[in-house]
Amino acid sequence: MDNRLKTNSPLDKLLNGGIECDAITNIYGPAGSGKTNIALTVTIETSNDKKILYMDTEGSFSAERFRQLGGNENNLKNIIFFDVHSWEDQHREIQRIERIVEKERIALIIIDSLVALYRLELDSENFQKINKQLATQYSILSMITRKYKIPVLVTNQVYGYKEDGDEKIELTSRAIAKYWSKALIELKRAERSNHRIAIVRKHRSIAEGKNIEFEIKERELKEVGKLGFF
Ligand SMILES: Nc1ncnc2c1ncn2[C@@H]1O[C@H](COP(=O)(O)OP(=O)(O)OP(=O)(O)O)[C@@H](O)[C@H]1O
Ligand SMILES: [Mg+2]
Repeated sequence: MDNRLKTNSPLDKLLNGGIECDAITNIYGPAGSGKTNIALTVTIETSNDKKILYMDTEGSFSAERFRQLGGNENNLKNIIFFDVHSWEDQHREIQRIERIVEKERIALIIIDSLVALYRLELDSENFQKINKQLATQYSILSMITRKYKIPVLVTNQVYGYKEDGDEKIELTSRAIAKYWSKALIELKRAERSNHRIAIVRKHRSIAEGKNIEFEIKERELKEVGKLGFF
């Protein structure tokens, strides 16, 4: 069995063929950086002939964008949707995933985003409980990807801060996300509008800093230029 899943996006070149089938891949970046575009692209590619499980926690799955990127009725038939609206729902639904993968042949699990509701729920009093719940969700997803060899793709928001006058970004949920995600891919805006850069920040077999520029077009995510190394 191939240990990479093709995404039909510039990630394939960046990641030597696609996302790993026995690991959690985390795509992170600011609003508008292309996280949902990548999630939709790999969803369409995979659901042409396989079933996938798609959890949308922000109501960001747009039928119009799905169609623009090539998705059709046949793709939709192969997608098991989870529309979750609260952190509590998300926590419960992630615990149901294993029962579904035991019954159906699922080729991909997507959670867009894993931390949107977490971020809304977190406050100074509940952070221990909420962080523990997030770690539990990651541990379930990690167990599933390793046991069933189903790739898991999650998206992750970021927040900005200043350090010595430099603008930096950090993943929402920081250490928890970094610990459980075997691959971390950062998305950044490039100079030209609608251009983005995807950068490997952590990977088991690819050097950190490898990057590729791409353009978000109406019908596809198109790589522009060659692979780079920071
Ligand atoms: N039809 C289109 N043609 C070209 N570019 C588009 C089109 N639709 C969306 N985009 C681009 O995609 C961007 C949004 O990307 P996306 O929704 O993937 O971001 P995101 O990282 O998921 O953001 P968020 O954190 O808000 O969920 C828009 O800012 C726009 O630049
Ligand atoms: Mg999004």
